Amino acid sequence: MKKRIGILTGGGDVQALNAIISSAKDTANALNIELVGIIKGWKGALDANYADLSSLSIDPAIGGTILKSSRVNIKKTENGPEIVLDNFKKNNITGLMVIGGEDTLSNSFSIKSFPQLLISKTIDNDVGNFEYEDHEFRLENIINYFTLGFPTAAAKISSFVSLKEGLRTTAYSHERIIIVESMGMKAGWLALSSSMGFPDFIIIPEFPLDYELFLEKVIKKYEYQRHLIIVLAEGAKWKDGSYIYENKDEIEDFSHPRFGGSATALKTRLKKDLAKYFNTRNINSVNPSYLYRSGAPNELDRFWAKRVGETAIKFLVKGINESIFLAIQKDKSGFKIMDIPLSNYNSIDELHRFVDERFYDPQELQITENGKKYLGEIIQEIPLEEYGLNNLQ
Ligand code: F6P
Repeated sequence: MKKRIGILTGGGDVQALNAIISSAKDTANALNIELVGIIKGWKGALDANYADLSSLSIDPAIGGTILKSSRVNIKKTENGPEIVLDNFKKNNITGLMVIGGEDTLSNSFSIKSFPQLLISKTIDNDVGNFEYEDHEFRLENIINYFTLGFPTAAAKISSFVSLKEGLRTTAYSHERIIIVESMGMKAGWLALSSSMGFPDFIIIPEFPLDYELFLEKVIKKYEYQRHLIIVLAEGAKWKDGSYIYENKDEIEDFSHPRFGGSATALKTRLKKDLAKYFNTRNINSVNPSYLYRSGAPNELDRFWAKRVGETAIKFLVKGINESIFLAIQKDKSGFKIMDIPLSNYNSIDELHRFVDERFYDPQELQITENGKKYLGEIIQEIPLEEYGLNNLQ
């Protein structure tokens, strides 16, 4: 009988998922093993909802996930981990590829002894590590340089705010303040990556907003520039620690409230406070929302999706003694794949990374030089040409 390996995708979809699945499928076919698609992530693992992928045609250039997704915490189901393992046993599944963000990957820790290959994907880029023993900033020391999906989403947000392709020109033309909402409920990497398109201010969840100071900055910069682009993460907070916007009526399995509304909330407050300065009709907000996660993967995403897909299958076919996290690392010649035993970590929290002051300057509400160095390896700057806009008044 052929060796059977399962594959699942969980959490928010990203553009690179089908590229991973298609490469895993091709590799499995070539090595004569059966790749079993688990439908709707960990929900499918609990329900034993499986599909044969071997003869399916999967287009790596199409975003989303052919396997579909869910946000399911297997520990929330009574005997959830045991049910998953029992289903695998009954169906002769002897290894598993888990493709997900922090929450989806956290389920793997509940069945750590089962051979798994973990691949990180999330436009939030918050799976990995920036802690170095000597605290020296070296790109080579970053554990998991980027999560799949992040390169495409980062390029999108940069282009949405940029002069050449984004909102800067309309902001200029109408002397507008435009607040652009970024996804990212806990981590500000996506919002920060907009810096490659040069917004004026970036506000991220890790650094609660001192609104009075922010207002001063807004007024000062608007006075000479006459337009502003502000990027605000959906999970950003006020100084007292409360979210700028959250919807507690839609809490999901991992206890996260629903976000999506912070830009509107900040806009409302700014309109009130800036009414005496100018026509508040010109304070606007935009939330591209799921557009960050949609469309085709860019070249970097697609290339590494293919590589991790085939690498994971090769590991599982060869046989592994313990579960492995496949990280994308940087070395002098570029990126490479590194396999890290999952036993190096006690929980996914040790791989949950946030923006800190090495990457973000909370006084200026801007990216630091190190932040540019880091993100510059993932996305190209979209030329600003010193705004290229002559401020006619
Ligand atoms: O987890 C990734 C993410 O993109 C977050 O940034 C965002 O808050 C969340 O997904 C929202 O996704 P959904 O609406 O699918 O739950």
